[in-house]
Amino acid sequence: MPSQFLLSARIRRCAHSLPLVALSLALGGWSWTEGPQSTFDTQGPVAKSQLQVFYTTLWVTGIIFVLVAGVLAYATLKFRARSEADEHAEPPPQSHGNPLIELSLIAASVFALVIIAVPTLHAIWYTYDVPEAEKANAYEVNATALQWWFRFDYPKETVAGAGNLVTGNELVIPAKRPVRINLRTADVIHSFWVPKLAGKVDMIPNRGNHIWLQADEPGYFWGQCAEFCGEDHAVMRFRVIALDETDFAAWLARQKQPARKFDAANVASTEQLRIEPAVFKYERNSPGWSASFDANPLERWKEKQGLEPDEDPTLVARGRKLFQEKTCVTCHTIRGHEGVGVTAPDLTHVGARTTIAGGLLENNSANLRRWITDPNGVKPHNKMYVGVPLGGSVMPGYMKRDTGTGAFMPNIQLSETEATALVAYLQSLK
Ligand code: CUA
Repeated sequence: MPSQFLLSARIRRCAHSLPLVALSLALGGWSWTEGPQSTFDTQGPVAKSQLQVFYTTLWVTGIIFVLVAGVLAYATLKFRARSEADEHAEPPPQSHGNPLIELSLIAASVFALVIIAVPTLHAIWYTYDVPEAEKANAYEVNATALQWWFRFDYPKETVAGAGNLVTGNELVIPAKRPVRINLRTADVIHSFWVPKLAGKVDMIPNRGNHIWLQADEPGYFWGQCAEFCGEDHAVMRFRVIALDETDFAAWLARQKQPARKFDAANVASTEQLRIEPAVFKYERNSPGWSASFDANPLERWKEKQGLEPDEDPTLVARGRKLFQEKTCVTCHTIRGHEGVGVTAPDLTHVGARTTIAGGLLENNSANLRRWITDPNGVKPHNKMYVGVPLGGSVMPGYMKRDTGTGAFMPNIQLSETEATALVAYLQSLK
C-alpha cells in the first residue's frame, strides 16, 4: 500500500479514537493498535461491529470520566483548606441531598446506559449468526480444537472414500462471503479467535457452538486459541487465508487430490542411511518467523502452493519410507500414501501450508527440521513428543513410558540424514 494511503488511514483511525490516541501517546507511541492480531485493524463486518461497540462505550465512559474528574478537581481546588483557620473551621451546614440533582444524575446514568445498550444489543444479535438475508450465500466449515492445534474440515467438500476434506491449522475460506464455523473441541475448553475478523467464541466439550465471520478482501489473518487450555495454550495458533472465488475453487480442487505420487521402488533401505542420532540444539523461543514473510504473507502463501525449487526425488522417496518406519503413520494421515491416524494433523498437503507446529513456526525446511528433531524444545510436552493416551495405555511418540518405573524413555530418534529426508518428503506434499 502506498505510504500516503497508509498515512491517511492512520489519521482516520486516530480521529475516530481520540481518547485512545491520548492514552497511547502517553504510553510512548501507538503502534500497539496495529500488528497481526490487532482488534483495531478490522477486516470484516463482524469485527467492525464489535469495534463500534468498543468505541461507543469508550466515548460514553470517557465523557463521564472527564465530567466526574473535572467536578472532583474543581471541588478539591476551590474548597481546599487555605490557612490554619480553615483546617480547624466548623464544617458548613449539612443537607440531606437535593432531589433535583439526584433525579438528574439518575436520568443521566440511564441515558448513558441506553446509549451503550442499544448498539451493544444490536451487535450481539448481528454477530450471533449469519444475517437471514445472507444465509443462502454462507459457506460452512467445522473447526475442532485439540491440545494444541486446530483441525478444520469442510462438510460441503467430500473426498471419495475419505469423508470431509480435512486440513490442519490453516483455515482457507472464500473472501467476501459469510463463513459459518461450527466450533467443537476434542478435549478441554479452547476458544476460537481471529482478531481482525471476529471476537472470541469458546469451544466447549460436549456442546455445539458456532461463530460467523467474513473477510472483506482476500487476506492472511492470524488466529489464536484464547482460552487457557494447558501448558501450550500460548502457542496454540492458526491462520485464516481468505481467497477470491477462483483461487478458492483452485485450492479446493488441489486439496481434494491425494498426496503426490513418487516412485519409491528403487530407494535403498533406510537402514543403510542410519547413523548415530545427531544432537540437535535450538534456542527455546528462538524466532520461528521471518520479516520477509510478514511483509506479504498472502503472496508467500501463494508461493508455497508451488513445488519446492530444490526438490530431490530420491530424498523425497527415502523420507516417505521413514515416515512409516518412524511410526509417524500411527497419528498422521497422508491420504493416498500412508497413515490412518486422526489424533494429529492430516499431512496430505502439509508442504502447501505456511505454518507448522500449530501455527507457531513458518513452514520452511529449517523450521520443519527444528520441529521434527526437537519437538519438545519448540512446544514443551506436546502430544507428538510424549505420546497420546489410547484406552488404558499410551501410544508412544518421541518418548515412551517405561511400564515398570513410569519414566520417559527415548523412542523416536532421527539422524541428520533421516531428518533431511523426512523434511524433503513433507515439503514435497503440495
Ligand atoms: Cu487451546 Cu488455549
